[in-house]
Amino acid sequence: MTNFYAVILDMIDARVHCGDCAEILQDYPDAFFDLIITSPPYADRRQSLYGGVAPEAYVEWFLPKAEQFWRVLKPSGSFVLNIKERVENGERHTYVLELILALKKAGWLWVEEYIWHKKNCYPGKWPNRFRDAWERCLHFTKSRQFKMRQEAVMVPVGDWAEKRLKRLGENDVVRFDSRVGSGFGKNIANWLGREYVYPTNVLTFATECSNKNHPAAFPKALPEWFIKLFTDPGDWVLDPFVGSGTTIAAAVPLGRHVVGIDLKPEYCELAKAAIPEQMVLLEPTGMYVCDG
Ligand SMILES: C[S@@+](CC[C@H](N)C(=O)[O-])C[C@H]1O[C@@H](n2cnc3c(N)ncnc32)[C@H](O)[C@@H]1O
Repeated sequence: MTNFYAVILDMIDARVHCGDCAEILQDYPDAFFDLIITSPPYADRRQSLYGGVAPEAYVEWFLPKAEQFWRVLKPSGSFVLNIKERVENGERHTYVLELILALKKAGWLWVEEYIWHKKNCYPGKWPNRFRDAWERCLHFTKSRQFKMRQEAVMVPVGDWAEKRLKRLGENDVVRFDSRVGSGFGKNIANWLGREYVYPTNVLTFATECSNKNHPAAFPKALPEWFIKLFTDPGDWVLDPFVGSGTTIAAAVPLGRHVVGIDLKPEYCELAKAAIPEQMVLLEPTGMYVCDG
């Protein structure tokens, strides 16, 4: 396995651009990327740190960027948007829901919503809600036929299986249809002999506090999971709001080419530093190639 990655790494192209993503992407050809995975500003939640827009203006701000995302994404590609609506005046704002509707109107298919469950969520106590332990990872595509490598994200079946499968009842060895007539059924015996199974759409990753130089970095495991699921080695990944470069740090060791864009020069520097050490800067293009 190590040798395989060594060969791929030799050819990896990882780039960081500093500027507005909608403008920078104009220099990229149509249908170039296989996956766009990103976490944009959550409206004006961290305005003092890296800008953002009022929730009321969020859709208008986002749509021109999404137009470029649509253009540079391959027809078989996926766009994964990690986002969460903030609370305003005691209730959740609806700008994420409005954005989903606007993206659908622009032609995107809203294929799935994955939940990122944060097992070490922020502590606190509020009178009207509990601790917020999840964020959305919205999955959009341009077509119903998109690349998806389900086997790449299989998980160990778990300790429950050994005990449960030892004592199969008569309903477990045939397909057992739901008694409420929902049309759903299950055949427990199908799990026999399986070491790995498909995951659910709930992804449990701890938030990472190790990257203290960016206030809103997502854990490396998050882009890693979607990169494995929606791309092959040698494919192109884009993070148009790359921040500290987590997506770059995830993509390169997986043998994917990657482009990261951020508006703030200090975050661009962080993102460049996130390119694994084997990469060498070729100035002045900002393009990196692997030194072996
Ligand atoms: C939520 S943070 C991304 C954090 C990133 N996922 C990480 O792990 O470090 C959003 C980033 O978007 C950047 N940003 C804001 N507006 C932008 C724009 N128009 N074009 C590119 N980047 C932008 C901000 O500077 C910020 O670093």
